[in-house]
Amino acid sequence: MNKIGIIGAGIMGTDLAHITAEAGFSVKLYDIKTEKSVAAKEFIATRLDGYIAKNRRTHSDKEKILNNIKVVDNFEDLADSDIFLEAVFEDLSLKQEIFQRLDRISSAGTVLASITSSISITEIASATSKPESVIGLHFLNPARVMGLVEIVPGFCTTVETIEMAKAFVKKLKKDFIEAKDYPGFYLNRILYPMINEAAFLLYEGGAKPEVIDKAMKKGLNIPMGPLEIADMVGLDVILKIGEEMFRGYADFKYRPCPLLRKYVASGYLGRKAGRGFYIY
Ligand SMILES: NC(=O)c1ccc[n+]([C@@H]2O[C@H](COP(=O)([O-])OP(=O)(O)OC[C@H]3O[C@@H](n4cnc5c(N)ncnc54)[C@H](O)[C@@H]3O)[C@@H](O)[C@H]2O)c1
Repeated sequence: MNKIGIIGAGIMGTDLAHITAEAGFSVKLYDIKTEKSVAAKEFIATRLDGYIAKNRRTHSDKEKILNNIKVVDNFEDLADSDIFLEAVFEDLSLKQEIFQRLDRISSAGTVLASITSSISITEIASATSKPESVIGLHFLNPARVMGLVEIVPGFCTTVETIEMAKAFVKKLKKDFIEAKDYPGFYLNRILYPMINEAAFLLYEGGAKPEVIDKAMKKGLNIPMGPLEIADMVGLDVILKIGEEMFRGYADFKYRPCPLLRKYVASGYLGRKAGRGFYIY
């Protein structure tokens, strides 16, 4: 179990390539836009230069990590991976399409993992002929810093797949919890309503983002407020999580705040866009 295939070189795919390569895995990185994979590898190189400048890594560490990451522009080139990590946009039909393709190229006994924040693993797995090999590995952002992974078995996931996933997570020196496969799992089941409620406070008028975040940070002694977290995650991702939970539970309490929709429609996607609840 030493070859990793990553699909999607966005915020999460980039960090996953970094941490898996650093843990000694041989990593192939694929994105529908090859320039995104190339940029991801360059970004990792630049970040490592920063670490070297602070004596946190050596030049030889950098060389080893970058040598472990291979950008591929052909999906089929991922075929010999032992673990696939799907990190494309948070969209059920897109993920099902990717898993159908993974189903065709993967051999029996490999792990087909999605890092989805909220989408049912069982529904993703239903697009494949190997639902027993499909599992959720919900890494948190930034993945190279955050110590926890939510491991989410689908309805048909076997114990063997779960054990392989746990061994993989341990090799990355991360802790894990096993969560039930319901929309939002455990973490976003609690985090999304908090962010959405903070958005409602803004929507109702009068509240300032800084004040809402200060209330939560100082009041609960947590490092970031809900709106700061939302900007870091990406408001488009938060909206998708909300829509998925609203669909999955058919419960009005999960309806995304109309203001959140307006931000996303206007391209105010958070830090990555230079503007979200805050301006960067
Ligand atoms: N952003 C977060 O904080 C966070 C945290 C945990 C989990 N996640 C989950 O990680 C996944 C990715 O999120 P992200 O924030 O990295 O998204 P992102 O928008 O930064 O990156 C998504 C990448 O997928 C690529 N892509 C789209 N369609 C593709 C296809 N058909 N084939 C290959 N690549 C394709 C895009 O080009 C893009 O580079 C989502 O499921 C999200 O819920 C995100």
